[in-house]
Amino acid sequence: MKIIVLGTGYVGLVHAAVCSEYGHEVYAYDIDIDKINDFSSGQAGKIEKHVNEPGLTNIIRETLGKYLFFTTDLESVIEGVDAVFLCLPTPPNLDGSTNLVFYDAAAVKIAEISTKRKDKRRIVFVNKSTVPIGTARHFRDIMDSHGVENFGVASNPEFLAEGTAVAQARMPDRVVVGCGHQEDFKILQRVYAQFVNHVRIKYIETTTETAEAIKYVANTMLLTYISFWNGVGAKIGEKFSNVKIDDLRLGVTADDRISTWGSFVSNGAGGSCFGKDIASLIYQLRNVNVNTKMLEASYEVNEYQKVYLIERAIAEAGYMFNNKNVAVLGLAFKKHTSDMRDASSIKVIESLLGKGAAKISGYDPLAIETARETFAPSRNILFEKIDYFQTAREAIKGTDALFISSDCEEFRGLSRTIEETASPPYLIMDGRRMIPDFEDLVAKGYSYLAVGSMAITPEQLS
Ligand code: UGA
Repeated sequence: MKIIVLGTGYVGLVHAAVCSEYGHEVYAYDIDIDKINDFSSGQAGKIEKHVNEPGLTNIIRETLGKYLFFTTDLESVIEGVDAVFLCLPTPPNLDGSTNLVFYDAAAVKIAEISTKRKDKRRIVFVNKSTVPIGTARHFRDIMDSHGVENFGVASNPEFLAEGTAVAQARMPDRVVVGCGHQEDFKILQRVYAQFVNHVRIKYIETTTETAEAIKYVANTMLLTYISFWNGVGAKIGEKFSNVKIDDLRLGVTADDRISTWGSFVSNGAGGSCFGKDIASLIYQLRNVNVNTKMLEASYEVNEYQKVYLIERAIAEAGYMFNNKNVAVLGLAFKKHTSDMRDASSIKVIESLLGKGAAKISGYDPLAIETARETFAPSRNILFEKIDYFQTAREAIKGTDALFISSDCEEFRGLSRTIEETASPPYLIMDGRRMIPDFEDLVAKGYSYLAVGSMAITPEQLS
């Protein structure tokens, strides 16, 4: 099949690469010429500057020029195309609604170009971005108003998680395809031929609106599940003595019906999707007069969770951050990514600086460059107080307290580094429960405060 993919973010690029791996002729398009040149170069450094997903560069290098092509000129590739996938950013507006400005601009552009086709074969425009329920209809109206002929509109939401996107695109748990016409279902069955009738992959065909809704319900349910653990499970561990949160998690998730994913209590879930999608669904439901208390609670628990360890440090350990140097480890929204969109570390650092911290020493294995942009002093003069380090050890050196804000594996072995680098009195705030041997540290005079457990200070032990 001949495919165009509009947008080369991590969703678009991974989709284009994996489709090319399955032998489709794929044209990946972006308005950013530098990005397209970097991808076309086939050089790892240039590709990974934009999207760094495990396994992705190898696929691009293997299929480049054979099945995979990068272009900024849609007109030259539109002839004979079977499917156009839209993988565009859909950022939130201030009121929570979804901003479709990139989406609409791309729709108008592809509509104008599609009207010039000489080959009038059926073309299906497939939306992979997370867009409000009913957007496929809106897209159809744009196509109709431009006089595009013989086309269909489909919704095929993407369920990839960053860091594991290639593996999931090769072997998804489900493929959801929403269409209004049998012909369009058939075109997508040919695009996804390797997944149709697969023994382990659910290939679900439905209406465009249902497909759009599936993505919102899935993401908001995942966030609600995380918020349930953070808002209920973690709080039980923090307020009732002798409740061990890790055993609580094991006991509850031993039930096959209850997933372990999401049960790892944290200082909030970040990323480009959960917060934006729940805000958008709240907006959409309010518009049709539905009570949204449940979603609002999930959202609020998650936002509060991002900074509450700092509040607990003050309330439970009597800690004052004024003039303190604090190391913040884990700046990205989770391990294995440099993405800092909606990362808990942003709220953590803003809160620490707001409480008078003299200096922040930041470390992340992948996100230092992103952090420099996120915390540009031009945005907030207080960000001048942030320094960045190449290792956790360097970041901890000379600090008075430590905040662990993501689940990078290397933090699990941190206790020895802390002992060698920082002397008590020293406060460790663990937003991800990354230090299993914290009791040894407390015995040596360090204070430890983790999500899901009561604060432990040497005074409390004695
Ligand atoms: C999420 C969904 O998992 C994908 O299915 C979806 O396709 C994607 O959003 C999207 O809409 O594009 P992603 O944002 O990449 O994927 O990240 P997740 O792995 O889901 O993690 C989100 C946040 O939850 C992270 O901050 C993570 O550390 C946190 N988390 C995860 C917890 O706090 N506890 C857990 O037990 C699991």
